[in-house]
Amino acid sequence: MERLVLAVDQGTSSTKALLVNSTGRIVGRGEAPLSQSHPAPGLVEQDALALLASVRAAVAACLNGTDPRSVAGIGLSTQRESVVLWETATGQPVAPLVSWQDQRGSERAAQLAGTPFAGLVRRRTGLPLDPMFSALKMAALLDEHDPARERVGRGELRLGTVDSWLVTAMTGAFVTEIGNASRTQLLDLGTGAFDGELLEVFGIPRPALGEVIASSGPFGHTRGFDPLPDGVPVVAVLGDSHAALFAHAGWRPGVTKATYGTGSSVMTLTSSPGAAGVICDTIAWSADQPSFAQEANIRSSGRTLTWLADLLGTPVEKVIELAANSDSDGVTLVPAFGGIGAPWWDPQAQPLLAGFSLGTGRGQLARAALESVAHQVDDVLDAMSGIDRVMADGGLTRSTALMQLQADLSGVEVARTHHPELSAAGAADLAGLVLGLWTASDLEKRADHGLEVFTPAWTEDRRKAAASQWHERLLAARELGA
Ligand code: G3P
Repeated sequence: MERLVLAVDQGTSSTKALLVNSTGRIVGRGEAPLSQSHPAPGLVEQDALALLASVRAAVAACLNGTDPRSVAGIGLSTQRESVVLWETATGQPVAPLVSWQDQRGSERAAQLAGTPFAGLVRRRTGLPLDPMFSALKMAALLDEHDPARERVGRGELRLGTVDSWLVTAMTGAFVTEIGNASRTQLLDLGTGAFDGELLEVFGIPRPALGEVIASSGPFGHTRGFDPLPDGVPVVAVLGDSHAALFAHAGWRPGVTKATYGTGSSVMTLTSSPGAAGVICDTIAWSADQPSFAQEANIRSSGRTLTWLADLLGTPVEKVIELAANSDSDGVTLVPAFGGIGAPWWDPQAQPLLAGFSLGTGRGQLARAALESVAHQVDDVLDAMSGIDRVMADGGLTRSTALMQLQADLSGVEVARTHHPELSAAGAADLAGLVLGLWTASDLEKRADHGLEVFTPAWTEDRRKAAASQWHERLLAARELGA
């Protein structure tokens, strides 16, 4: 029987599944949507059981007649930082999943900002004290459902990021993958273990969290997870952004990727923790030993375009098309919905629209929204320095205008991949390596196949002028919230 890899990418708005054969060819695809709710300003939740149902549905659609016993192993890629609290005995969630986009920790983050604790968090975990990361969400969930931490203390409740929730549901193993764990703000990058001091200050008892495991497992074997038969090994788990870097064969020196999705993530490997400067340090993945990365997160990219599409009552494709065929005519949109992320990390910054007039129309607004994506990525590339090529992936890369604009504005080559399921591909890549189906050099050849390269065309002066106007207005957006 042919040996196949099943890869699942559990993301914020959908779950995607791929079936890959031993030559790396995709032989099955499935997708199932997943919704989010916004119960109050700043809160973003998902139904944790619906999330599992979306995984089952995507896997079923992907298998579509293939004998599931041909699945030699499973690779998972998951949305990161989001948190689930569930009952150990029943496996039932106690509350809705708190999304990575949720801002409920912002007040506590503001109280801690500037204290020695914030410095300790940054030094030990590589992350700024921002409500996007898991720790403050975990604390808020426990404060609401187990304020005295008694149930957690008795082992009755478990907390986990999506990888942990999903693996527990699939195999019963209460574990968490190290790259995902490095996004909780509780992991000491130096030791690769959850840090006792941080756990104590955030108020999260250690037994609430699963065992930290390498990206190559072991994660156990499926048990009672339809439509998969029992006994299929889960052999690889990666955070979705990390999986995309892996699919670009991102272990090679000089490879930097930018994912253009709901938000954006720019990521590249570094030699050691602490090398990232103003950008976050993180663990990309770990097989024999951890690979460190720097990653910059931008909160609103594709989300800015869908927001504008909703506002204009038009499909997002129309906004993308308008943006491609218009000039912003001096209009700037600073999409600080929920503050502004890397490299500024200013949760107080306010959304700002500037430079408009009675003559401003849909085209200028659409173009300003698209430009805001490129400017934010440009700020990050600037902070990372020394980058001359960016591998671009994610849904918004379908905008050719954005790809060219990024190259022009940043003065770097932008290489667009046409793989629509890159995070799933990264999970499949690692799973196949673990299973011995292919080698790292096979994956390098695969990553370089079919790239479309955009070369920068603007002069230095033009780039500087565009960046300077953006920075002026970004500063105004930050001052609005100060
Ligand atoms: O950090 C959050 C990220 O992992 C979510 O990614 O693709 O589900 O929006 P995505």
